[in-house]
Amino acid sequence: MFAKYPFYKSLPMKILLTGKTGQVGGELNNILKDMGELVSVGREQLDLSEIDSIEPAVLDIQPDIIINAAAYTAVDKAEEEPELATTINGVAPGVLAEAAKKVGASLIHYSTDYVFDGRSDTPYREEDATCPLSIYGESKLAGEKSIAEAGIPYLILRTSWIYSLQGKSFLRTIKKLASENDMLRIVDDQIGAPTWARSIALATHKILEQYLRNKTEPSLSGIFHLTCQGKSSWHGFAKEILSLSDASQKTQLLPIPTSDYPTPAVRPLYSLLSNDKLEKAFAFKMPHWHDTLKDCISSTPAI
Ligand SMILES: NC(=O)c1ccc[n+]([C@@H]2O[C@H](COP(=O)([O-])OP(=O)(O)OC[C@H]3O[C@@H](n4cnc5c(N)ncnc54)[C@H](OP(=O)(O)O)[C@@H]3O)[C@@H](O)[C@H]2O)c1
Repeated sequence: MFAKYPFYKSLPMKILLTGKTGQVGGELNNILKDMGELVSVGREQLDLSEIDSIEPAVLDIQPDIIINAAAYTAVDKAEEEPELATTINGVAPGVLAEAAKKVGASLIHYSTDYVFDGRSDTPYREEDATCPLSIYGESKLAGEKSIAEAGIPYLILRTSWIYSLQGKSFLRTIKKLASENDMLRIVDDQIGAPTWARSIALATHKILEQYLRNKTEPSLSGIFHLTCQGKSSWHGFAKEILSLSDASQKTQLLPIPTSDYPTPAVRPLYSLLSNDKLEKAFAFKMPHWHDTLKDCISSTPAI
């Protein structure tokens, strides 16, 4: 009778979740509710650009786990606002980690495929050399380093090409543009793994469950790559979105090279991440992006 009752329900665990209005944060806000007392905060309650406000908030809440799903994610705008991007993505995670140390909490944080330069032709592993091409990528890498320096138990989950039915998402942008245009030109030479925000949140739940069972096991902490299986170009991703939506009949998708679509921030041409370390440590596989895209399109948005 008790075997099915999740063990963590007996733990008096308090989770502080930042970024509750984001793609991943919104999903986590629903999915982590069964894990303990969840204190979800948005920018109004905790603004990560106000560095001095971070430690008092953590001391006040006294969490056992901090999950930082908040970030400056406007990749192109970051080129114009390097200081703000660096404060939120580079400095704030380290301050959160130092505050976590004071209250004895662990930290789960998300990072990005954009810490790599895309020159590889095989999926990046956690120990591969980083070399960001953009301010956003640099700021996220600085965040990873500042967390590692704090000397607390942490998990950094690097993911890629996040989409969902809420917020600023490639999926929503393509559907909107397709409803307004007969033809769309989409980059076809950047390769990555589209990853549904809900898949990340569900994986975080599984990871947290196992982490809580064995917090002192070194193989369950550090940096992990976490993306949906498979690969695509942005053009391939857009094609699949439209084939699963009504707009497929009308809108033509023209594949173009990155050089025909210059953006302020340079993106890696190849940013597939290997999930091998995650699969070995936590014993589960991520779903294929084709399957999750179907599930996402027929789902109800988290927020
Ligand atoms: N999106 C991607 O394709 C992608 C790819 C790889 C990795 N990642 C990483 O994955 C994580 C989750 O990304 P996401 O796509 O879920 O991000 P998102 O949808 O853009 O959400 C970002 C969240 O951060 C919050 N935020 C921004 N500035 C803040 C500040 N100064 N103080 C407090 N909160 C602030 C936002 O709040 P507001 O609603 O108030 O703006 C929002 O809740 C991030 O670490 C991101 O770097 C993202």
